[in-house]
Amino acid sequence: MRNLALFTLIGLLMFACESDQPSSETPLAVDFLIPKPNTVEIGSGYFALPSEAQISSGELGEDWQSTLQFWADVFSEESKSTWKVGGQDNAAIVVEKSTALSSPEAYFLEINPQQIRIQASEAAGVYYAFQTLRQLIWANEGHIPVVKISDSPRFAYRGMHLDVGRHFFPVDFIKKYIDLLATYKMNRFHWHLTEDQGWRIEIKQYPKLQEIAAYRKETLIGHYNDQPQTYDGQRYGGFYTQEEVKEVVAYAAKQFVTIIPEIELPGHAQAALAAYPELSCTGGPIEAATKWGVFEEVYCPKENTFTFLENVLTEVMALFPSAYVHIGGDECPKTRWEECTECQALMIKEGLEDEHALQSYFIRRIEKFLNANGRQIIGWDEILEGGLAPNATVMSWRGEEGGIAAAKQGHNVIMTPTTYCYFDYYQSQDPGEPLAIGGFLPLEKVYNYEPIPAELSAEEAKYILGAQGNVWTEYLSTPGAVEYMAYPRAIALAEVVWSAKEDRNFKGFTKRLNPHLRHLKAEGVNTANHLLDVEPEIISGDGEGIKVKLSTPLEGSEIRYTLDGKTPDVNSALYQQPVSVEGTLQLNAQAFDQGKASGRPAKIQFQAHLAAGKKISLEHQPHPKYNAGGIGALINGVNGADERYGDAEWLGFSGKDLIANIDLETSQELESISFRFFNGPGQWIYLPQKVEVSTSEDGTTFNLANSQNINTFNEEKVVNVKVPIKSKGRYLKVHVYNLGRIPEGNVGAGNAPWLFVDEMVVK
Ligand code: ACM
Ligand code: ZN
Repeated sequence: MRNLALFTLIGLLMFACESDQPSSETPLAVDFLIPKPNTVEIGSGYFALPSEAQISSGELGEDWQSTLQFWADVFSEESKSTWKVGGQDNAAIVVEKSTALSSPEAYFLEINPQQIRIQASEAAGVYYAFQTLRQLIWANEGHIPVVKISDSPRFAYRGMHLDVGRHFFPVDFIKKYIDLLATYKMNRFHWHLTEDQGWRIEIKQYPKLQEIAAYRKETLIGHYNDQPQTYDGQRYGGFYTQEEVKEVVAYAAKQFVTIIPEIELPGHAQAALAAYPELSCTGGPIEAATKWGVFEEVYCPKENTFTFLENVLTEVMALFPSAYVHIGGDECPKTRWEECTECQALMIKEGLEDEHALQSYFIRRIEKFLNANGRQIIGWDEILEGGLAPNATVMSWRGEEGGIAAAKQGHNVIMTPTTYCYFDYYQSQDPGEPLAIGGFLPLEKVYNYEPIPAELSAEEAKYILGAQGNVWTEYLSTPGAVEYMAYPRAIALAEVVWSAKEDRNFKGFTKRLNPHLRHLKAEGVNTANHLLDVEPEIISGDGEGIKVKLSTPLEGSEIRYTLDGKTPDVNSALYQQPVSVEGTLQLNAQAFDQGKASGRPAKIQFQAHLAAGKKISLEHQPHPKYNAGGIGALINGVNGADERYGDAEWLGFSGKDLIANIDLETSQELESISFRFFNGPGQWIYLPQKVEVSTSEDGTTFNLANSQNINTFNEEKVVNVKVPIKSKGRYLKVHVYNLGRIPEGNVGAGNAPWLFVDEMVVK
């Protein structure tokens, strides 16, 4: 909590209080809480925090007392009041044990003008009641609204993961990371401690893990796919001492966060094998990996290896009281095992039919050892291959299938599918985003995640313990980079795993989230914030001209715009309704939050031409995947990107011709029509073979104005084709001939080609 101390309360107020003493009519902020509580009953009036506040301890047990002391310390630091544990019935906060609450994490929080009352059945519930109270204090500066809140989590497992193998993060940051997840009522920290690129936990019996495995000689620069691959030449590494680990475990426990250590096996172990190559199939030499990926050097399942792993796990168990130990199990290539005489002999001896069965044997042995020591294993979903270990919990990451299969077999499951839970993926399509591994996982998608797959029966669904966000750090080398990727997506996931499913609503969430993000930023948390990115939508093609709709993911934000090319400021036109655009000009739009330009601006260049904003119809519709801007995008005066065909301007036709009718409203002298075509043979996107243009005065009788063949095989990514017309007419019929089939000798030969068209400029 230290790192989040001294929250600036100014700026957090959702409703500013002018005076120190708000009248009982002053609306106070309750609709601020994340995750959203189960029930909230708002009363009138407020409880004013006294300068010295007591938390009554009554006759409660030691774990309760230490939780109360924890909060007295936090509140003393964060608010202007001094908080003490003690006092009797007249204390500011009265905490009581209740047997009426179903879950150990459930709580009841009642704020009256005279007193705050908390009830819970266990100390965990008390802890969460205080987290809720803390958010109410943030939002209301000393005047906490009268309210009754009854709350409990939907899922028992609410996790965040952090990979410290690819990059190493200091203990202070690990604590800050735990503070943040606990703030949003998450209760598991999955600490991914070992990787091919570095071993990060001190194991006293194996000093070479510290001397050798904790370091790599250098690190890949840039993205893995960049060619040629280059390296920084800098030795890199570090590890947590056992003393540090104990300190972090104790720190997390005070916030009801259980740390689940992960010791990867049999794969992702190259750093350990660099230190102890005798545990590999080849005997080495092996170096800690310097780039990312999946590596062939894995533990050889021989007796020495099991002895090593059992000794390592014994030290790990002594440090982590968690019932669970994560043993990895993912991405273990079998190439070394296939060629290893010891592995092959073991397979024959144990009657294992293939290397997947050998991996299964490996995991079962480790499970047996951990079970004998009173622990349970979690493994990535590859542990399903070759048969699950009897008591294993499965972490489903390659989609939801692994989780579904495991639940159907009666095994516990934690959902972490890449599609919803991989916070190393890009969260915005802004080309200015920091380098990431790839993928696309925007906040809304995380928020709309449903951890219980529809395929499961109610009985099977009980095996889904919860969900977790994963933060892999190949491309995240600093604490700030980790925070940027984890937040606010972790906050969205926190609501997914805590709040009632039927209460979830993304728009409402963004309203609550924005003040949290301001707050976290003020506290030095490097959160991303795309809530105020301007998302323009151009409406055209219906003959009603061109209009631009401006919005941000946060509804009701202040958007200002200019049409003269200037950067918008607080005095620029306020967006209220779709903006009509006429002529050649640039539209610039920017959202403002509390008087400051915030979020990504929008900048759109419009080009005037005879068809811009007129009426268009098509004989074949574009493929639904490539029709984001609607058919009006063909004549809205705006060009699609030169590098990408995925934006709203480009329309894609699969195997079909583009046949368009345009009504220019009045008869016009016409000179030419120009087209932009995307050319991407690698993606089966080919130029058309021919364009025909006809004109008409009445819309019925058309005369061919021109026909032009196109040099289909071309090196350019975007090809402009200009067709002279020299004709007069009100109506234009445009026929662009798709290639039909991709000819032999080209990528995708024999298949239907894609035709991508953007602006058709009529002069
Ligand atoms: C994983 O992402 N390899 C679990
Ligand atoms: Zn082997």
